[in-house]
Amino acid sequence: MLDLTSYIEQHKDRLLEELFSLLRIPSISADPKYIKSVAEGADAIAGFLKAAGLENTKIHITKGHPIVYAEKIIDPSLPTVLVYGHYDVQPPDPLNLWESEPFNPVIKKTEIHPQGAIFARGACDDKGQMFMHIKAIEYLIQTDQLPCNVKFMIEGEEEVGSNNLAIFVNENNELLKNDIILISDTGMIANDTPSITTGLRGLSYVEVCVTGPNRDLHSGLYGGAVANPINILSKMIASLHDADNHIAIPGFYDQVQELSAIERKAMAQAPFSLEKYQKSLDIAAVYGEKGYTTNERNAIRPTLDVNGIWGGYTGEGAKTVIPSKAFAKISMRLVPNQDWKDITELFKKHFESIAPIGVKVSVTPHHGGQGYVTPIDHIGYKAAAAAYKKTFGKTPIPQKSGGSIPIVSLFEKALGSKSVLMGFGLDSDAIHSPNEHFGVWNYFKGIETIPYFYKHFTALSKTKD
Ligand code: BES
Ligand code: MN
Ligand code: MN
Repeated sequence: MLDLTSYIEQHKDRLLEELFSLLRIPSISADPKYIKSVAEGADAIAGFLKAAGLENTKIHITKGHPIVYAEKIIDPSLPTVLVYGHYDVQPPDPLNLWESEPFNPVIKKTEIHPQGAIFARGACDDKGQMFMHIKAIEYLIQTDQLPCNVKFMIEGEEEVGSNNLAIFVNENNELLKNDIILISDTGMIANDTPSITTGLRGLSYVEVCVTGPNRDLHSGLYGGAVANPINILSKMIASLHDADNHIAIPGFYDQVQELSAIERKAMAQAPFSLEKYQKSLDIAAVYGEKGYTTNERNAIRPTLDVNGIWGGYTGEGAKTVIPSKAFAKISMRLVPNQDWKDITELFKKHFESIAPIGVKVSVTPHHGGQGYVTPIDHIGYKAAAAAYKKTFGKTPIPQKSGGSIPIVSLFEKALGSKSVLMGFGLDSDAIHSPNEHFGVWNYFKGIETIPYFYKHFTALSKTKD
């Protein structure tokens, strides 16, 4: 029987080509123009799951994009792992900043990935990482070594808030019953410094609109005499942080869980070079909340950021105009104990209250979700740690991430199970940005590491009983 590394070595080209075929499908969930491509993505996933040896493959149609399900139940008395991932991707814009086509994957060497990286939208987030699981299971099934039951649930709406997956999960508790949820949709510190994500931030995403006069006005005839919505919106946004970069919304920090000095000290042990960080972003200094380190600011502290702001004239040349309306999209990243619905409400009340007379303000919530924590004494975490130890030769570092996967906290609520976040991407892989990529080494390392998770999780589950 083929061992794991020889299997990967022997099937190398096919493992890459199959992922490439998936990356060629522009499954952009946010853009209605791509609805067919997203469905094509679901079909492709279903085909790969079937080919890997999974059974009962089904494409569930939703009000939005399809959810793909498949399973291999070898013995109901054995533990069940539920693999979650997403086949939808972020829009590739701005296109002119891509050095290769976003949906035509190519392998190029980079400083961080000397063995080459796959450049394509979704290479890392999340097609490449999700596909590692299909291929790891293919190996386990094809070589008759699957030690427990496995279910796959791969969705097409993660990048737009997973609304229909939430409904599907709530309605299918029995089908999705499991002992642990396994996800590769996060990152690790570096290829020589494996880490496991133990926390995700929550999210509240809103859109705001400031309306001034009932129509666009000549900025000479009216300028100075009526409120300019863009000027007002800028002032309002600027007032949301104080001089120390704390968020200046009364009550915003009330529920925030403060970390103990011991926990902060443990966090500070993780290798991190501020100099390299600044250099990689071409910035002269970092910026953020006073009293916290960079790693604390982007993982255990809440944030408020404008993601986009528009209004007035932004075309070629100049047009003298006072716009009728100004808009912004604002995201707040939340930490344990902050409730995203409470925070959304708090933001709305505050933002409306600071609007001067003379403009109207509206706040429209988009989507959100709770944060998540994986305890490191959970057998799922322990099984993952043992798997990394085996293939990286090092015990992975537990690390909280700043990103969000809102559905993970719903999994816990609806299914009662914990999730383990085995990410193999790097922060520098440019997810959501032009030139997204995923290291070829990382892809194969993921396929190599995942089977050991199954082995250790099954063994640890037995000792638990
Ligand atoms: N995979 C990411 C989240 C992520 C990336 C977490 C890296 C930790 C490390 C996911 O696809 C994502 O982009 N989530 C969104 C939220 C979603 C509701 C659009 C995010 O974090 O902005
Ligand atoms: Mn993702
Ligand atoms: Mn994403």
